[in-house]
Amino acid sequence: MTDYGQASVEDLPAILALLKSCGLPTQDITPAMLGGFLVARHGGRVVGVAGVLPAGTDALLRSVAVAPDHRGLGIAERLCDILEQRATQAGIANLYLLTQTAEGYFAQRGFRPIERAQAPGALQATAEFQQLCPASAVCMRKALQLPRTEAERGRAAGLDSA
Ligand SMILES: CC(C)(COP(=O)(O)OP(=O)(O)OC[C@H]1O[C@@H](n2cnc3c(N)ncnc32)[C@H](O)[C@@H]1OP(=O)(O)O)[C@@H](O)C(=O)NCCC(=O)NCCS
Repeated sequence: MTDYGQASVEDLPAILALLKSCGLPTQDITPAMLGGFLVARHGGRVVGVAGVLPAGTDALLRSVAVAPDHRGLGIAERLCDILEQRATQAGIANLYLLTQTAEGYFAQRGFRPIERAQAPGALQATAEFQQLCPASAVCMRKALQLPRTEAERGRAAGLDSA
């Protein structure tokens, strides 16, 4: 069985090894960043990883990788679903990413290509934008469904007396 959970500092070597083996950047990953990372574990081994780096109401989805012998099983889908749900709950309105290899994958998840210049300044300032992802990488954005307020929920349920 595959378990999904918060990445910890103990997972860092396995995360870095997995990302490197998938050709994804690792140079800027710090233990402090892991708060936004999830791992998928199978038999105690890290077989998948994905992370979100928030900047205000925007966030960068990065480091989505699954070990080759565990691909096609929905592991990346589950990791991204959980991260998107968490981001929505945290009030993130837009998720951005850069990819050289998986534009089609993220298009299926509702991401659309944009010009890099359209990404928020705080994300453009990250190492991933500045140094680690070549200019040929595609920048993509997905608007998240913000959670409804109590009042909106009430109105939708016909409970609003006003
Ligand atoms: C992209 C990746 C994370 C997908 O992981 P996964 O756990 O196998 O994905 P899922 O099981 O959720 O989805 C599998 C589906 O996505 C499709 N898919 C996988 N990689 C794809 C890609 N690069 N482009 C388009 N579709 C892709 C598969 O064909 C499969 O389709 P199907 O369900 O119709 O058969 C994995 O292939 C990977 O680690 N790639 C190398 C690292 C990478 O490119 N990461 C993304 C950049 S941040």
